[in-house]
Amino acid sequence: MKSVFTILAIAGGVLAQGVQITFPFEGLDLIAGTPVNVQVTQLETTSSLQNMGIAVAFQHCPQDPCSSVSEAVGPVFFVGPHNPQFSEPPSPIGGPYQNVTVTIPSNIQKGLAIFSVPHAALVGADAFFFTEIANVTVNIV
Ligand SMILES: *[C@@H]1O[C@H](CO)[C@@H](O)[C@H](O)[C@H]1NC(C)=O
Ligand SMILES: *[C@@H]1O[C@H](CO)[C@@H](O)[C@H](O)[C@H]1NC(C)=O
Repeated sequence: MKSVFTILAIAGGVLAQGVQITFPFEGLDLIAGTPVNVQVTQLETTSSLQNMGIAVAFQHCPQDPCSSVSEAVGPVFFVGPHNPQFSEPPSPIGGPYQNVTVTIPSNIQKGLAIFSVPHAALVGADAFFFTEIANVTVNIV
């Protein structure tokens, strides 16, 4: 896993400042009405990376695969600073992370759903403005 990550990180320089949702996993069954620790792992940190913030959004997908979250991410459960830390237990892919606890609505439709994490940062000496939306698809039971 770590070596795959390293290769990806080298292949795409743009990934360096990115984040990955490392929990829940793709395809995980989650129970409506229960809290979930959304684990947002920073793929790489450099002294010149200044994280601005993240949000956590979550919505049911009416179709499979889910339609793109590049323009609208659905109901927002958290907006705040992104301060990833090296914590125990470690992230499955290594690296510092931040957990955000959100409660899955009890009235959400069963089936496919998607977590989105919009992320913004300033990178490098020139403070290049970086944004992305990480996502993971889960199954509500
Ligand atoms: C962060 O969330 C993950 C996934 O739920 C969990 O395994 C881990 O224990 C949490 N870490 C901390 C420090 O709470
Ligand atoms: C989730 O993120 C991946 C990687 O950025 C992207 O290719 C994919 O289109 C996204 N999925 C949705 C449903 O937006």
